[in-house]
Amino acid sequence: MGQGSEQGVAGDGGTPLPDEIAAGNAEQAGTWNGDDGRFWVQQRERQEARYLRLTPHLIAAAGIQADSRVLDIGCGSGGTSLEVARTAAEGSVLGVDVSAPMLDEARKRAAEAGLPQVSFERGDAQVHRFEEGAFDVAISRFGVMFFADPEAAFENIARALHPGGQLAFLCWRSVRDNAYLTVPMGAIAPYVQLPELAAPGAPGPFSLADADRIKKLLDSTGFDEITISAVDEPMWMGPDPDDVVAYQLGMPGSRAMLAEASAEARAKTVTALREALAEHQGPDGVTLGSAAWLVTAHRR
Ligand SMILES: C[S@@+](CC[C@H](N)C(=O)[O-])C[C@H]1O[C@@H](n2cnc3c(N)ncnc32)[C@H](O)[C@@H]1O
Repeated sequence: MGQGSEQGVAGDGGTPLPDEIAAGNAEQAGTWNGDDGRFWVQQRERQEARYLRLTPHLIAAAGIQADSRVLDIGCGSGGTSLEVARTAAEGSVLGVDVSAPMLDEARKRAAEAGLPQVSFERGDAQVHRFEEGAFDVAISRFGVMFFADPEAAFENIARALHPGGQLAFLCWRSVRDNAYLTVPMGAIAPYVQLPELAAPGAPGPFSLADADRIKKLLDSTGFDEITISAVDEPMWMGPDPDDVVAYQLGMPGSRAMLAEASAEARAKTVTALREALAEHQGPDGVTLGSAAWLVTAHRR
């Protein structure tokens, strides 16, 4: 991930943060408003394709109706917001995210798609003042793992739902269960210094990898009827190994990692990564396994 930031200042030359960001979330917000957010926008179509097999699990679990009022937490560039808006044609969808570049992209796409029932607000979902009980459904595709204070965040999300309202989200299981990470990381580990993995539970993509933690978290923040099921799906990485190498080594975190390596180590990294990915090339491109939790619950 990118570098940290002080509150109110993006970490790497990105968009300044609004005052609303909780102090503990400033580092993550800086990342998503800086290089990482811009990279996600650049790679939006690939990101959607990577999630292609995962998203239907979330949509099916969310049970959205034509008149549903939907909240999309950490909506990013609006992929899921737009998708559910097509179902909630007589309802509404509000996407909330801390990232200005990603929300700019989301707004542009909603306008192009002609979906006036979708709107977006920039805010920290941990502290954003949602209208109380205003939503029937809260969804998130990998947008709820970045909170410094998950209890406060899920209490805030619960408050936004009316009693009985539906929560449905996808979050990652552990790194070791996700071949889309272990295959590339295993290939390049002999040549570069991989970044340290975050401590278990620390804000980041894998903070909710522990299903017991999710259960306790939701139980203590106003949810019941909690279900947590494993979703194992292939993830499309790109059309061919060269394309995927360029994508993976172009990530802001990879660029920082490679900047520390010698020219020889960089060359070996590229070769090793390309060879590892080539083993997973199929007729439709390079595909690796992914492992997520699909979580559903109702507000008490
Ligand atoms: C992995 S991306 C997923 C984006 C989007 N849900 C998707 O599936 O394309 C995580 C998103 O969570 C957002 N995010 C991180 N912390 C947040 C917070 N405290 N409040 C709202 N959004 C947050 C990031 O800006 C980013 O857009």
